[in-house]
Amino acid sequence: MTAPARPLPALPRIGPDTAPVIALTEVGMTYPNGKVALIDVNLEVPAGDFLFLVGPSGAGKSSLIRLLVREQLPTTGRVVIAGSDLAKVRRSQVYRLRRRIGVVFQDFRLLPNKTVTENVAFALEVTGAAGDHIRDRVPRLLGLVGLHEHANHRPSQLSGGEQQRAAIARALVHDPAILIADEPTGNLDPVTSWEIVQLLIQINAMGTTVLMATRNQEVVNAMRRRVVALENGSVVRDELGAAYERGYEL
Ligand SMILES: Nc1ncnc2c1ncn2[C@@H]1O[C@H](COP(=O)(O)OP(=O)(O)OP(=O)(O)O)[C@@H](O)[C@H]1O
Ligand SMILES: [Mg+2]
Repeated sequence: MTAPARPLPALPRIGPDTAPVIALTEVGMTYPNGKVALIDVNLEVPAGDFLFLVGPSGAGKSSLIRLLVREQLPTTGRVVIAGSDLAKVRRSQVYRLRRRIGVVFQDFRLLPNKTVTENVAFALEVTGAAGDHIRDRVPRLLGLVGLHEHANHRPSQLSGGEQQRAAIARALVHDPAILIADEPTGNLDPVTSWEIVQLLIQINAMGTTVLMATRNQEVVNAMRRRVVALENGSVVRDELGAAYERGYEL
């Protein structure tokens, strides 16, 4: 996939005086059944960052993501998103927080009886967006993810990669500060996986902070971005320009 020809908007200023868009401080999380999923996790993500969250199955990647979208609260420590301590966000305000964070999953989670356009539009309709805004925004997003030709197709008429593009367009409807992708290439072949990662890179270049949880070693090794590695619920490595495994050389 090639980069868009139009000029990209300026990246947010990143520096030591810029508050991180995601900050976890000494976070522990234990599920109600007693399973300890995260232990003493510290993580700061500056605005505009792109990071891979890696680690073996069961390491705690999805559990960490559940904290970021406030599906779970930490048992200990603090999770702060764009300056808001999630433990202090009132239940009635959680929907506002979720608009600031777009999420995509391995299994796409599109509504099967709606077209691509309707899936994306629905995410705006439920928040009471004006019809004019929806008619303007949805085709733009489908253009961004390269799906205009499939606008009127249902998920069952799309390839896996196209379904993931539709899910990404939907995740971007509210122009979120953060895009989180939990194993977004888990159901895709290598070439399609690569195209989806390129799209996430493009979205990041337009200013959105991107956090991608993955066990896709080829992608992580080729991209050489920031890598945060979890093992048994603990961060065991946080390294810039890194590979999937410590010490791996091309
Ligand atoms: N709802 C839950 N209740 C209890 N334990 C859970 C729950 N969800 C996950 N776990 C456990 O927490 C640990 C971390 O799981 P998590 O799903 O975060 O791992 P993961 O790194 O995302 O793995 P994968 O790569 O397979 O997606 C695992 O031991 C898992 O069995
Ligand atoms: Mg997971």
